[in-house]
Amino acid sequence: MIDIDKIKKQVEQTSTLDELEALRINLLGRQGVLNSYLKELKNLPLGERKKRGEELNLLKEELESVVNKKIEAITSSFLLERLKKESIDPYLPPFPINIGRMHIINRIINKIVHIFERLGYETVEGPEVETEYYNFEALNMPAHHPARDLWDTFYLNNGKLLRTHTSPVQIRTMESNRPPIKIIAPGRCFRKDNPDASHSPVFYQIEVLYIDKGVNFAHLKGTLEYFARSMFGRDQEVKFVLSYFPFVEPGAEVAVKCVICKGRGCITCKQTGWLEILGAGMVHPEVLERQNINSKIYSGFAFGMGPERIGMLMYGINHIRHFLDNDLRFLNQFKFHLED
Ligand code: DAH
Repeated sequence: MIDIDKIKKQVEQTSTLDELEALRINLLGRQGVLNSYLKELKNLPLGERKKRGEELNLLKEELESVVNKKIEAITSSFLLERLKKESIDPYLPPFPINIGRMHIINRIINKIVHIFERLGYETVEGPEVETEYYNFEALNMPAHHPARDLWDTFYLNNGKLLRTHTSPVQIRTMESNRPPIKIIAPGRCFRKDNPDASHSPVFYQIEVLYIDKGVNFAHLKGTLEYFARSMFGRDQEVKFVLSYFPFVEPGAEVAVKCVICKGRGCITCKQTGWLEILGAGMVHPEVLERQNINSKIYSGFAFGMGPERIGMLMYGINHIRHFLDNDLRFLNQFKFHLED
């Protein structure tokens, strides 16, 4: 008969799951000891067979429970050992995780767009590949107009061009909407400029257009002052300098009190105390009339700004190229800026 105490000892002495499994097969497997006894049952007389059967069943249960307990014991001691070896010090600082984040230029653009969305402006986009009509002609610059020289243009083989500014989005909007029109149009622009610290062949612009009855220069000024204060701080001063753009009359360049030196004079503002941030003006009546908007009833203002330039001023960035290089050492510096 099976010596249960001896078996218990054998089970106790195993130290790995493999050893235990071999023992289990030997005892409880199909060819195992227990089965060999069960097979012999049929040779016994009926009365004894029943009694013996019950005994063997109890034995089987006991063996199974001994083995199962040992499995648990081995597993948990294995786990304990592993936990001891891999002990975690919860007071150690965690490994830094590199979380991707939006590019700084997109965050600057978003911040600007949000300021105007709060004023009820709708965000629209236009194509980067444009026609001469939208980029120049409809903006009051017919072919051979000398002002076209202001924008060094990449012309494509199919007669189209890469837009040199976002102003064509004004025309596309006027074409398919009636006043009141209130839009903001961010997008990429292209110019055949010689690259330097503040010029890049690829850059962004943000165009703003507002057309309604009775819009005047005071509205333009108020809007830009509101924008400058939202962007640079409550006390930000703004000034207008007369300028020329064919699609506005009068035209102006807008400067803000230098955000670095607060007007005292520094290298960023070239000692002038002021920084030009955008071109602006009242939409030229000719531009409105071409889009069948009656300039005797409606008037509007428009402006276009460069978000890279604004970012350069805000963070003291000395080269526009940094926005395109995607050097992580540069980008990671803005982890904690403009998260809103
Ligand atoms: N599109 C002009 C540029 O690229 C900027 C500009 C000036 C836009 C005056 C305007 C504006 O909407 O009214 O230099």
